[in-house]
Amino acid sequence: MARMTPQDFRVRYGPWALVAGASEGLGAEFATQLAARGLNLVLLARRGDVLEEVSMHLQHKYGVEVRTLALDLAREDLVTALAGQFDDLEIGLLVYNAALSMIGPYFTIALEDHLREIAINCRAPMTLAYLFGQPMLARPRGGILLMSSLGGAQGSALLVNYTATKAYNRLLAEGLWDELREQGVDVLTCCPPAVSTPGYLASAPSGSMSALTPQAVVSEALGALGSGPTIIPGWTYRLANILMQRVLPRKSTIKLMGRVTRGMYQKAL
Ligand SMILES: NC(=O)c1ccc[n+]([C@@H]2O[C@H](COP(=O)([O-])OP(=O)(O)OC[C@H]3O[C@@H](n4cnc5c(N)ncnc54)[C@H](OP(=O)(O)O)[C@@H]3O)[C@@H](O)[C@H]2O)c1
Repeated sequence: MARMTPQDFRVRYGPWALVAGASEGLGAEFATQLAARGLNLVLLARRGDVLEEVSMHLQHKYGVEVRTLALDLAREDLVTALAGQFDDLEIGLLVYNAALSMIGPYFTIALEDHLREIAINCRAPMTLAYLFGQPMLARPRGGILLMSSLGGAQGSALLVNYTATKAYNRLLAEGLWDELREQGVDVLTCCPPAVSTPGYLASAPSGSMSALTPQAVVSEALGALGSGPTIIPGWTYRLANILMQRVLPRKSTIKLMGRVTRGMYQKAL
């Protein structure tokens, strides 16, 4: 698909976009690049004060309307917490970006942390896609973008449950893409490699793996909306993915990922 102008983008995915996990990193960058295209924003994350700062900045710089909601996406009563919050808004784009990434050997991580990871990384995106996707289908117009990871294409030591949750997002988006692709709703999953966000840098990775910038990843992802189901940002990573998924035997791919994650994290653990 040819690159959309900001005006086309607004017509197709506006007037409001909801970004879940918008206070920093890739989420704040999604909010910025969507505001630059003229979309009004609903920003959601736990830290309301940080969301307010992002909101003030975007309103001032781009003249868009912004609403914030401080909410823990792991809440059991997520549906109730969201009920009626945005009934007055036409949300044409959902970006589910929030995630918890537990790093370490599987059995050294508490079961409750694995379960929290599933709540934030799987239950919440599925719930938001359901709640906000239905009105899009009724219009019929809109977009849903779920953040997965290059790591979600195979299992990985030290990131066992995290990579499994990212595989869930990828498959959820791919299935939805096929169901909705002729019904006016564009679905995309973005599968980046390492990205230099505060969250990634705080995990203290070591080794030689170079990280993409949030700006580059978000720009590629938004540019690929409408050409789903999947975008892997960065052509070298697209090539690496072909090698790992189509050339190497599955066992070798999993072991290779394990070598990479052990190299990145074993020292920090
Ligand atoms: N960075 C990478 O290297 C990388 C690579 C591949 C894929 N990804 C994917 O890209 C996405 C963003 O990554 P990132 O590195 O930008 O993450 P991040 O820096 O950790 O930021 C995550 C965002 O989600 C929010 N969040 C976290 N837990 C939440 C909760 N329980 N409820 C509500 N909001 C919550 C955080 O805000 P609060 O703390 O204010 O709640 C923050 O705004 C994730 O889905 C990740 O899996 C990242």
